[in-house]
Amino acid sequence: MWRELAPIGRDPGSRGYRRYAWTGADGDCRNWFRTQAADRGLRYEVDRNGNQWAWLGDPDAGNAVVTGSHLDSVPDGGAFDGPLGVVSSFAALDELRDRGAEFARPLAIANFGDEEGARFGLACVGSRLAAGQLTREQAHALVDADGVTLPQAMERAGYDPDAIGADPERLARIGAFVELHIEQGRALDLTDHPVGIASAIWPHGRWRFDFAGEANHAGTTRLADRRDPMLTYAATVLAARRAAEDAGAVATFGKVAVEPNGVNAIPSLVRGWLDSRAVDQGTLDAVVTAVEAAARERAGRDGVELAVVRESFTPVVDFPHALRDEIARILGGSGSGSGSDPGSDPGSVPVLGTGAGHDAGILSAAVPTAMLFVRNPTGVSHSPAEHAAEDDCVAGVRALADVLEGLACRSS
Ligand code: GLV
Ligand code: MN
Ligand code: MN
Repeated sequence: MWRELAPIGRDPGSRGYRRYAWTGADGDCRNWFRTQAADRGLRYEVDRNGNQWAWLGDPDAGNAVVTGSHLDSVPDGGAFDGPLGVVSSFAALDELRDRGAEFARPLAIANFGDEEGARFGLACVGSRLAAGQLTREQAHALVDADGVTLPQAMERAGYDPDAIGADPERLARIGAFVELHIEQGRALDLTDHPVGIASAIWPHGRWRFDFAGEANHAGTTRLADRRDPMLTYAATVLAARRAAEDAGAVATFGKVAVEPNGVNAIPSLVRGWLDSRAVDQGTLDAVVTAVEAAARERAGRDGVELAVVRESFTPVVDFPHALRDEIARILGGSGSGSGSDPGSDPGSVPVLGTGAGHDAGILSAAVPTAMLFVRNPTGVSHSPAEHAAEDDCVAGVRALADVLEGLACRSS
């Protein structure tokens, strides 16, 4: 499976993945998923929001156990964020069949569309639409950097953008959703465990800061006469770092657009996107308020106009304790640790929180969800350097198979 996926959407220069929603690379990933489903005799379907499903057993029987993740990527993403969950799902099913498992509940593998939000700026579009957390009108208003709207992109990829929207009947089929994912930090590496269980996802969001100044000549405009939004932007980046440090949170300006983007021109506009996350909502609110206040203060001094728009927000997710405890029991032990502390009991599977967003977090508002994490020895993610060792990936597949067996199969 990895060999087939490896070349899809990989940039030859950076060696990173550029699998953006509704592009050719995304389509190739989707074809790969469909082939995997067919190869295993699974019933394949695409829902109204373009999420893919591969079913073993009758979807309409209800109380299904669903696993899966996403196949799209951030710009120059790694191989594992998303695909590890989908590949492991198919591999876990193969493992269960090898074990001769008898299924008492329907099982499905899902690939949720546009998880990273790399193209349209909003993460988890497929699961948000399904869960009714994003309306069709809101989704239709999304536009990519080239001015292509989400409905245009869907249409070009052969999907019907008018069909998108809440999908409560489909979600009502699900009794439990378990997403396996590479860990995106080093919490597991600091323990001696290849696999952990998620406790919670930090609240997180994206804010767009538009700094509008005045375009002018870089060689002839006196410094005192400039209204340079790059200065305001730069000061705001530093303020975000300070606010995050003070609060024990994280804040990142990882994307910026400059107009007119000329070497010898003072910019007329700098647009920067703030991604910020914190352990609780109060802390996150305080960080963003502090960043905005610093930006406004500096904008006043620079003669720059500032507009701040919150483009997305995901509240804290505390994964349901009953499912989490059952998974810990299946994996042998009671689970140890909580929050961002994975605990140190060597007999128990670590339980850890994360600052990364996931479809499992979105779906948790509608169905019982849980997550398994696979050790990431460097913690690097959203980068071509993202890595998990093969033995750990195999341990992840076995753990997922154990969990699916415990939840969905008759005990032999
Ligand atoms: C998705 O990976 C996110 O946390 O932004
Ligand atoms: Mn990601
Ligand atoms: Mn992911």
